Amino acid sequence: MKIAILGVGNLGYSIAVGILDKKKDMNCKALYLTKRNLSSIEHLGKLSVVKLTADNKRAVKYSDVVIIAVLPSQLKKVLEEIKDQVDPNNHTIISVATGREIEEIEAVLGQDVPIIRAMPNTAISVGESMTCLSGNALGNKNMTCAKSIFNALGQTLSIAEKHMQAATVICASGIAFWMRLIRATTQGAVQLGFHSNEAQKLSMQTCLGAAKLLIDSQSHPEQEIDKVTTPSGCTIEGLNEMEHNGLSSSLIQGLVASYQKINEI
Ligand SMILES: NC(=O)c1ccc[n+]([C@@H]2O[C@H](COP(=O)([O-])OP(=O)(O)OC[C@H]3O[C@@H](n4cnc5c(N)ncnc54)[C@H](OP(=O)(O)O)[C@@H]3O)[C@@H](O)[C@H]2O)c1
Repeated sequence: MKIAILGVGNLGYSIAVGILDKKKDMNCKALYLTKRNLSSIEHLGKLSVVKLTADNKRAVKYSDVVIIAVLPSQLKKVLEEIKDQVDPNNHTIISVATGREIEEIEAVLGQDVPIIRAMPNTAISVGESMTCLSGNALGNKNMTCAKSIFNALGQTLSIAEKHMQAATVICASGIAFWMRLIRATTQGAVQLGFHSNEAQKLSMQTCLGAAKLLIDSQSHPEQEIDKVTTPSGCTIEGLNEMEHNGLSSSLIQGLVASYQKINEI
């Protein structure tokens, strides 16, 4: 597989790093990386599999999977630029541009091109992205190609396109929400007497452990909570205090506010 990433900014870079890490698993023979100013990614150009270019058309010409990772406002211009180079029989186009619908991409490239919308998150650079995927009719037929990339970089879920905005809030913005929870529990640990580096380690590993407990056991959060809440004990005392102050409600309201905002943009 030859992959191009058009627009190697924050997310494009994370995807590139993830692909380079797993290039053997996904049989990636070449990785074309583009941006207008290549100076920030020059170091990647030293790797034999990587080809750096500011020429999007050239990157498309020599690849079979094209991941477009420019800003939503830049997407149409890039699509116009590459449209004559896109071969419906050879290319699969994957867009990660937030809020840009498959219909808008088809309007430029045509309905005969396999198009997939992907919503990964920045944990893709460490192989732990939750990536939601949806495609047009041909894109859905080529979904295994997108899954082979994104499954090597975390987990994937195929969803209806109408749920893409919600997936963006839960998974892409979700990284920020979980970071803030880790920061808050770190600050709490500092107040309870730990140095900040120790506090963050305690918080991060406990967060990872909680998620892994659920993933490995496939149990429900409340089942795991029941196991650690001794009657009249300190865990239920703390948990109930957090709930009196609106923990669950505030998180849900935040997700809904984020969803309302994304639908206005
Ligand atoms: N960050 C996230 O967590 C996240 C998650 C899911 C989806 N997304 C989506 O991913 C996309 C990228 O987000 P980002 O945060 O990575 O943005 P970003 O850091 O601004 O990256 C966009 C990159 O595109 C390049 N670019 C602009 N015009 C170009 C062109 N004509 N040809 C080639 N490259 C071009 C820019 O570099 P030059 O100026 O050098 O060209 C820039 O590095 C957005 O659509 C966003 O909605 C982001």
